[in-house]
Amino acid sequence: MLKPSKLGYAELAVKNMAGMEHYYSEILGFTLMEEDEEGRKYFSSGLDHHNIILTPVNDSNLLSIGFQLDKDISLIEAQKELNKHGVSSKLKYDTQPGITELLELKDPDGFTVHLYSDTAMPAPRFKEKGIIPNKLGHLALASMDPLKTADFYKDVLKFYYTDKIDERANFLTCNNDHHVLNISNLGKRIGQPNLYHIAFELRDASHQYHALDVLVKNGIKVLWGPNRHTAGHNIAAYHHDPDGNLVELFIDMDQLIPGLGYFDPRPWHEDFPMLPRYWDDNSQWGTKFEETLLDYAVKKFEKVSNS
Ligand SMILES: [Fe+2]
Repeated sequence: MLKPSKLGYAELAVKNMAGMEHYYSEILGFTLMEEDEEGRKYFSSGLDHHNIILTPVNDSNLLSIGFQLDKDISLIEAQKELNKHGVSSKLKYDTQPGITELLELKDPDGFTVHLYSDTAMPAPRFKEKGIIPNKLGHLALASMDPLKTADFYKDVLKFYYTDKIDERANFLTCNNDHHVLNISNLGKRIGQPNLYHIAFELRDASHQYHALDVLVKNGIKVLWGPNRHTAGHNIAAYHHDPDGNLVELFIDMDQLIPGLGYFDPRPWHEDFPMLPRYWDDNSQWGTKFEETLLDYAVKKFEKVSNS
């Protein structure tokens, strides 16, 4: 069966390459693995050849999303499965270092999705300096039609639908993490599908406090949080990267037991068992902040439209 197991990478369109390279390598603490002839820079969090690609083009923020498939599925089989759903895809070879072949397709919003089975794992290991997240955790998408896009990931790519926050957000996962995708209705507000935020997992609360100190020492303000979300129960804090993308650093995300359909119990859960459900707010602690997360995400687009 066609099913991704992992959010492998995100490719971001970058305007301020010097700032973004410094941010990813010195502040977040990823390892720069390679730069290609087009000036794309590939960063690893510790194992794979890359988990972040910075591409110097003036385009939509999110250029592609890479998902690694379950290891026993060939790309030919995956393509046949996509065809059954009427989804066209292209097999591409040697389009990026570390991944010799991938399937390229578009989701209903037009986001480019890459599916691949094998990736090089040169394992630069974790850096000693910087924030040093465990991994790229999830992407939140600003969708023009979130229900349609969420259904695509559920029905075609066999993601598990976990939670919803009113009509704002739809959470889906392809592994144990509560969400690797959050598909929001923000695209309607900014008039285009785009990135809402990108999120990295940290180890624990002390790591999160350290991370926020690192940000502030580097002149980056914390915009929202730390605060425990309702959907996923992750404790999250948000800031802007040098290009104005909203970035989340989180800990404590709910872990799904996919075969049983509920989350590993936690003392702060509202329900026992904690099943996928509908929420009407995004703060479990009730902490109020001056601006909503969506306001922080749209700032970049308002700047673009005003300039
Ligand atoms: Fe998030």
